[in-house]
Amino acid sequence: MKKSYEQFIARQELLKKQYDDTYYQKQHQRGKLTARERILLLFDEGTFEETDAYAPPATASFGKTVKAFGDGVITGFGKVNGRLVYAYSQDFNVLGGSLGATHAAKIAKIQGMALKTGSPMVGLIDSGGARIQEGISSLDGYASIFRQNILSSGVIPQISVIMGPAAGGAVYSPALTDFIFMTADTSYMFVTGPNVVKEVLNETVSTEDLGGASVHATKSGVADFVYSDDENTLLGVKKLLSYLPSNNLENPPLTEPAIPTREDEQLRNIVPEDPDKPYNVKDIVSLIVDNGNFLEVSENHAANIFTAFARIDGQVVGIVANQPKVMAGTLDTHSSVKGARFINICDAFNIPIVTLVDVPGFLPGTDQEHEGIIRHGAKLLYAYTYATVPKITVILRKAYGGAYIVMNSKGIGGDFSFAWPTAEIAVMGPDGAIAILYRKELSEAEDPVILKKELTDKYREEVTNPYIADEKGYIDEVIDPALTKQKIASSLKALQRKIELRPKRKHGNLPL
Ligand code: HXC
Repeated sequence: MKKSYEQFIARQELLKKQYDDTYYQKQHQRGKLTARERILLLFDEGTFEETDAYAPPATASFGKTVKAFGDGVITGFGKVNGRLVYAYSQDFNVLGGSLGATHAAKIAKIQGMALKTGSPMVGLIDSGGARIQEGISSLDGYASIFRQNILSSGVIPQISVIMGPAAGGAVYSPALTDFIFMTADTSYMFVTGPNVVKEVLNETVSTEDLGGASVHATKSGVADFVYSDDENTLLGVKKLLSYLPSNNLENPPLTEPAIPTREDEQLRNIVPEDPDKPYNVKDIVSLIVDNGNFLEVSENHAANIFTAFARIDGQVVGIVANQPKVMAGTLDTHSSVKGARFINICDAFNIPIVTLVDVPGFLPGTDQEHEGIIRHGAKLLYAYTYATVPKITVILRKAYGGAYIVMNSKGIGGDFSFAWPTAEIAVMGPDGAIAILYRKELSEAEDPVILKKELTDKYREEVTNPYIADEKGYIDEVIDPALTKQKIASSLKALQRKIELRPKRKHGNLPL
């Protein structure tokens, strides 16, 4: 063997030695896979190519330095579902996955490659944040990663997967990406940890209660997806990628529908006759999407709005629906922000939006007003109006007041609007309307209950019924619920070449 080749092999052996049994055991004991196992699971078998594997650690003062090759992060590219994806995976075994200058430069380099090549970027995060002993170099490292995140935003899909700690600076890159996954029991995210909270506020809180997956999937809404363990989380990432294009210049992957679109009579029986009775909008979604399959985003946060990716006739769509089962489907601050964010992502990545409406209005109350329902509700209105992808609406039942306008009405630019015969479209529901218009008559009536019933029937007949909206052109057609999927599918085809130009400007001033 030539000396040069021997040298080459020896160098490879040194790298292999880094990944001995103790390396694997340490992570497995924590209930986690190693950085390398994770990245190999993410990519289609045999396709992962590593970059900068031998990058030396930056020299650091204050005692502890890194002895490992690669400086605690694996970076590279490969295929996921047969398509090119770039990724990095932080190694908690190397100084707690903390981010120093070399570590950061490797990530920023791969982010740049993903952007240049129009490929999705996936970050597997398991990190104690900025590496303390590298001081300003690690802070500047984060700055370069954040900058790449922001420059890539809306150009390539960016996905963050939290698989251990994400502390301090480690949370802000995920927050700048499109989707955040968390593993159920082994991940947590916070800007300042329990120790700092105790020191500053004298508050005792566990890691889990401060920033565990369940907190972020429900209360804060920071996490979009939570899966039980590393393997399932990575499968979830692959599933999400199957709905997304590689970049903003491509359309999402088209698939051949297994069953041709056909009439479904079950759809006629889901919405109850009684307008005050709840039902599960997911039962309707299952019947109008291919094979009943959808991938719900932020399932347990602001569940009064439902957001999901699915396919209709093989074409990827984003579905936004009011959920009558939760808070009667009213719009509040959290659901407005959740809906707006989802719409922005669909619009950025050429995913048509299908909106299913059953909304009694915005949630009234002091809490909501003080939380800023005015500015948060405006986000949903802005996102729908700003979006130029095909936008199709089906009004299932209630569409009252401002919430009618916001939920992709034709007036704000909805392309096709359909209504089921059960639809009620008006400024407000019968109770409110009658109380305002007939207060005097009701107080003087011999039998106010009978008068109220008569007025309610009359209101439904003369004001709220969908045929009025149909005749006036505010909706395109009152449809048989059984034909909903066909109507959406043919509308999607009619809108395939939709181009909607906007006035030239740097960017709009999004309500924040
Ligand atoms: C250097 C670090 C480190 C860090 C952990 N380690 N965090 N080294 N810089 N930020 C090292 C530990 O010294 C230890 O090394 C090893 O990683 C494992 O850490 P443990 O504490 O033993 O693990 P665990 O008990 O699981 O706790 C994990 C942890 C904790 C919760 C992440 O380590 C921790 O609180 N770290 C600090 C988090 C933090 O405050 N980061 C800085 C935030 S400021 P040995 O050699 O013993 O194995 C920040 C600024 C950027 O990020 C802001 C941008 C907006």
